[in-house]
Amino acid sequence: NPLKIAVIPGDGIGAEVMPYGVRCLQAVGRIFDVQFEFEEFDFASVDYYEKHGDMMPKDWKEKLSKFDALYFGAVGMPDRVPDDVSLWGSLLKFRREFDQFVNLRPCRLLKGVTTPLANPGDIDFYVVRENTEGEYSSIGGKIFEGTDRETVIQETVMTRTGVDRVLQYAFELAQRRNKKLTSATKSNGISITMPWWDSRVLEMSKKFPDVAVDKYHIDILTAHFVQRPHIFDVVVATNLFGDILSDLGPACTGTIGIAPSANINPSGTFPSLFEPVHGSAPDIAGKGIANPVGMIWAGQMLLGHFGYHEAADALLKAIENVLARSEPHILTADMGGKGDTKSLGEAIEKEILAM
Ligand code: NAI
Ligand code: MG
Repeated sequence: NPLKIAVIPGDGIGAEVMPYGVRCLQAVGRIFDVQFEFEEFDFASVDYYEKHGDMMPKDWKEKLSKFDALYFGAVGMPDRVPDDVSLWGSLLKFRREFDQFVNLRPCRLLKGVTTPLANPGDIDFYVVRENTEGEYSSIGGKIFEGTDRETVIQETVMTRTGVDRVLQYAFELAQRRNKKLTSATKSNGISITMPWWDSRVLEMSKKFPDVAVDKYHIDILTAHFVQRPHIFDVVVATNLFGDILSDLGPACTGTIGIAPSANINPSGTFPSLFEPVHGSAPDIAGKGIANPVGMIWAGQMLLGHFGYHEAADALLKAIENVLARSEPHILTADMGGKGDTKSLGEAIEKEILAM
């Protein structure tokens, strides 16, 4: 039966790159016999907000629950709607209400892409970020506001269920890959939650005896991301540390225009969400020059998530082949080319169809 995909283009370049994401999925589906059923939605956009006074219809959850996956462009146009309204009214609702507790980002250096690193080596790893608890709790408060005694507290919340489920996902991913897992910690400085995180990692590792585990404190880990990124395979981290690492990792592998991201509900109770890392880029929106690779690569993650590994590998290969040829009239400006969204998107689609 077909994969049911809700297509939510959103704002700015999100809507410009989405058609190429869908076309590449259709192309790879044709070659590898993967059936899709796409349905497009106009909500989660500032256009919708300006018409309806809300980012989404009241029954958005009902409308989207029946899909296997959400394929999402980007949301936000800060000149028209404040970012906290657009983001909290759409994307953050998806992540929370659909319990997408794993945020997954590949960090992979593709041939033909310029990296800011001096000695990149062969970079190919994943950051697995806990996406629902940890440091991002809303428990806390202020007292003695406006006086010298002003005191501000915000708690970190880690639950056994919440931590174990993301560790389980990371260990399973490591087991499918190169059987190596790195944990981001800070148990030297943060003396209650982080040693407990370490103990949960140790406990989970007993279920995966074939996976080699190491851990680094977050400070030195960020240095290693820049200086020795080739040593990593799967890196698992709490919400805050994962947030930092999942921007740093892709930054080490080139332009933001190519990085994809998945927000996953592993049990499949709710749909998972696949999106490019970048936003709506108001500065280049409407010009047709946005890099479509982040959107297309997010579609590749979608295929991988649902076990279509052959199709996923082929799609990544097609992206790699096109970028490796480094043809200036094909590549977008952020990659130093003179091409546009259409030239790069269609080149990847053509590459797939020629496989
Ligand atoms: P942004 O990612 O939209 O843009 C940052 C810079 O990177 C800009 O100079 C832009 O032109 C460039 N860029 C981004 N994607 C590109 C691509 N595919 N090709 C070529 N260049 C690209 O981040 P910014 O400017 O901080 O945010 C703009 C809006 O997007 C805001 O409303 C923000 O809230 C929203 N946003 C939404 C996200 C989402 O929907 N997941 C994520 C990040 C930001
Ligand atoms: Mg971030």
